[in-house]
Amino acid sequence: MAANIETNTEGIETMHAFEETPSAEAPAAVALGRAIVITSGKGGVGKTTLTANVGAALAALGKRVVLVDADVGLRNLDIVLGLENRVRFHLLDVLEGNAQLDEALIRDKRNPNLYLLAAAQAREKEDVDGGEMQRLMEQLRERFDYVLIDCPAGIELGFRNAVAGAQHAIVVCTPEVSAVRDADRVVGLLPNDWSPELIVNRLRPALVRKGKMLSVDDVNAILHLPLLGVIPDEPAVIVATNKGEPPALDPNSQLGAAYRAIAARLTGEETAPAEIPTEPQGGGFLAKLGAFFGGRSNV
Ligand SMILES: Nc1ncnc2c1ncn2[C@@H]1O[C@H](COP(=O)(O)OP(=O)(O)OP(=O)(O)O)[C@@H](O)[C@H]1O
Ligand SMILES: [Mg+2]
Repeated sequence: MAANIETNTEGIETMHAFEETPSAEAPAAVALGRAIVITSGKGGVGKTTLTANVGAALAALGKRVVLVDADVGLRNLDIVLGLENRVRFHLLDVLEGNAQLDEALIRDKRNPNLYLLAAAQAREKEDVDGGEMQRLMEQLRERFDYVLIDCPAGIELGFRNAVAGAQHAIVVCTPEVSAVRDADRVVGLLPNDWSPELIVNRLRPALVRKGKMLSVDDVNAILHLPLLGVIPDEPAVIVATNKGEPPALDPNSQLGAAYRAIAARLTGEETAPAEIPTEPQGGGFLAKLGAFFGGRSNV
């Protein structure tokens, strides 16, 4: 479905579908976009930051992208994008029929290809109906090339609802034993026919070299997932987040390049494997990890 941008009286840009021209012919098949849930199990590993930055990078590649904040009750994605003052309606307003989808979609300040569907702040995850969520994601897939769903932490109802309308998952993991264990649990809960991809976030190569931090290989010795990308640990992320400016859009930063490489890999524009910072020989951490994992089913 084609769409049009309008600015309402408060200066907020919303998205409006064009009226379809009635036709006696059968409608042409709509190429559906890809709905991807960004999940981790463990909280605070960088899901929201990644959703915003990978979304901004995909939009910069000319893709039509909507970011869905599925963390009902703990809205954050709007802040990372600097759109917090523009939220009038949220996901639950749309699911419950209190607002039209077009009224709730907020266009990004920088890129007309990028939209946000914010989460409700004063509601509970239990208020979301999984079936409705699935239907809404299908609707979004008709309009956008990519629907990135920012999943709440945990593996309960909020996780299940976020996964409901997706067909693919990106698993975010930091180089910590607890994050690896939670990521492993999440992978085990995803549909069997999915092939989730891994992003290792907050890597500090200097610590890895000293043997003080898990390496990407250590992490993936447990998870065994295709590696979509590695993001360094950078204080610049926190500074940018506070300013509502995704670092993915900074052409000069190594950090921005790491987010853009993930976007390029998702679209298939980049086919080379994700670059892994230099790592030490041997794996002192592997023995430690082994104590936590007796095989996925035991975790
Ligand atoms: N690569 C990075 N380098 C440094 N800090 C980072 C990086 N990625 C994320 N952070 C910081 O980590 C914190 C948690 O990030 P974020 O909110 O994206 O995690 P989350 O997984 O969405 O958390 P939650 O599970 O609570 O939703 C934030 O302060 C963010 O700025
Ligand atoms: Mg989050």
